[in-house]
Amino acid sequence: MSDERPFPHRHLLTLDGYSREDVTQVLDTAEAFFEVSRRPVRKVPTLRGKTVLHLFYEDSTRTRTSFELAAKRLSADTLNLSVKTSSVKKGESLNDTCRTLGAMHPDIVVIRHAASGAPHYVAKKMECRVVNAGDGMHAHPTQALLDAFTIRRNKGTLEGLKVAILGDIAHSRVARSNCRLLRLFGCDVHVAGPRTLVPKHFAEAFDVTVHDRVEPALEGADVVMALRIQRERLSEALLPSLREYSRLFGLDRERLGLAEEDAIVMHPGPMNRGVEIQPDVADGPQSVILDQVEAGVATRMAVLYLLLGQGEG
Ligand code: CP
Repeated sequence: MSDERPFPHRHLLTLDGYSREDVTQVLDTAEAFFEVSRRPVRKVPTLRGKTVLHLFYEDSTRTRTSFELAAKRLSADTLNLSVKTSSVKKGESLNDTCRTLGAMHPDIVVIRHAASGAPHYVAKKMECRVVNAGDGMHAHPTQALLDAFTIRRNKGTLEGLKVAILGDIAHSRVARSNCRLLRLFGCDVHVAGPRTLVPKHFAEAFDVTVHDRVEPALEGADVVMALRIQRERLSEALLPSLREYSRLFGLDRERLGLAEEDAIVMHPGPMNRGVEIQPDVADGPQSVILDQVEAGVATRMAVLYLLLGQGEG
């Protein structure tokens, strides 16, 4: 366990302010926890007596279940507030929800919210630690960490890799957090998507190369990350049609052939099969999509452990 170095963060709200050393500490700690999930008895006593509160205002399969499993495998007590059946539905504000839940003394809140900045707000209102499990279009830091863990396991390193991130960049908190993290390690990051789905100034803001065709991004790539078309966030006609999008920007076998022969294929999920990625690529030999899911538990165990087990007081 890489716990000799005190972890210098109280919260994980975004990866801004996290150094390469901090990220490496999370990944090394996740490496130590990885085998716990493959044991016959998948539990360690590390966070016994701690309480983890999951507060998901948006739907989730992977993030929610892996945080819950991570907390349980560390022996923490877990509470899952189902927002759909809570007093939020009666109009209770986020402020009052924070005050109410704070009175029950959780040690850490894991929050997903449609509003960018909601986890920062909660961190100001509550005394406990806070982890951002995805806020609006802003950040999804644990997704970027588990992606980095998956890349490092498959490629042996993060340094010097060409990474292609394809699709709906504009609505993607995953793209933003990944660009931030990958640039810390000097990756050559290329993002590609329709002009309507790549924000202006994205290249300058994240120090990456932007393309409006996927082919130049894919050429010689070591890592190919396809992103979900976020139909629920498409507020206007930003795409001619999903069929047209798939034809021009979708990841199929032919396009994947432009990348390195040993390139890995990633997707944060959930996938729109046949839209941003073809099923034979998603399920093909280069796909590490289920590795990402497995990495999610170990990485979130590491985050909970570092923030709760040895974070600053
Ligand atoms: N990647 C991700 O955040 O998936 P969920 O929405 O299922 O949690």
